[in-house]
Amino acid sequence: MHKNKSIKLIKYYSFINYNLIYNNKAINRYKKDNFGITEDISNNLELLKKSIISQKNCDLKKKAKNIVFSDGNPKSKIMLIGEAPGASEDEEGLPFVGRAGILLDKMLSAINLDRKNVYISNIINYRPPENRKPTEEEIKRYLPFITKHIAIIRPKILVLLGSTAMNALIGSEVVISKMRGKWIEKKFGNSKTSVIVTFHPAFLMRQPAQKKLAWIDLKMIRDKKNNLNIN
Ligand code: URA
Repeated sequence: MHKNKSIKLIKYYSFINYNLIYNNKAINRYKKDNFGITEDISNNLELLKKSIISQKNCDLKKKAKNIVFSDGNPKSKIMLIGEAPGASEDEEGLPFVGRAGILLDKMLSAINLDRKNVYISNIINYRPPENRKPTEEEIKRYLPFITKHIAIIRPKILVLLGSTAMNALIGSEVVISKMRGKWIEKKFGNSKTSVIVTFHPAFLMRQPAQKKLAWIDLKMIRDKKNNLNIN
């Protein structure tokens, strides 16, 4: 091709942003957005996940289809923790994707949040059979993992959804009717976080009258987020 002609073509292609229009590299549609997290966080999360997967003699793990590790943005300063996966979560390997998850998404959206700007996990990473509550022993076994998980994410706001998450992380003596809607400070690893307890979405589906209290808690989370300049 004539030199001038090829220079013109190069200019033309860069002008029309040729690379964006045609690129013969395969598109990896399954690549998970890593939200630009540092290698450190990403490696630590990977290591944590591996140590959960490599547990020996865990009946929950043996019976479950998938590990349910987390969803959302690991860079978020807001972390939510539920109880344990249900059938839909076990199927998909993601937390809160069933009916309770739909309500959780609505609760988040009421305060202008969604899964791209929060990080979600559970106390237990495998589904308890028949959706029963996790036993004391199971909670004890998984507690070091979720504590480590919080220390890796270093949230500024930690939202505990329901009494299993509350009792596991705050103490077995507290009751949700007294504890919800209050900020407490707690340290995980090296960082301090403001913790709030609110009702679990599955409980709110059974007791819709309690949604007015949950709305108070959500507004507290929204205000704290604004005060801490979290975007
Ligand atoms: N309930 C939970 O506590 N966690 C889930 O992931 C789903 C339902």
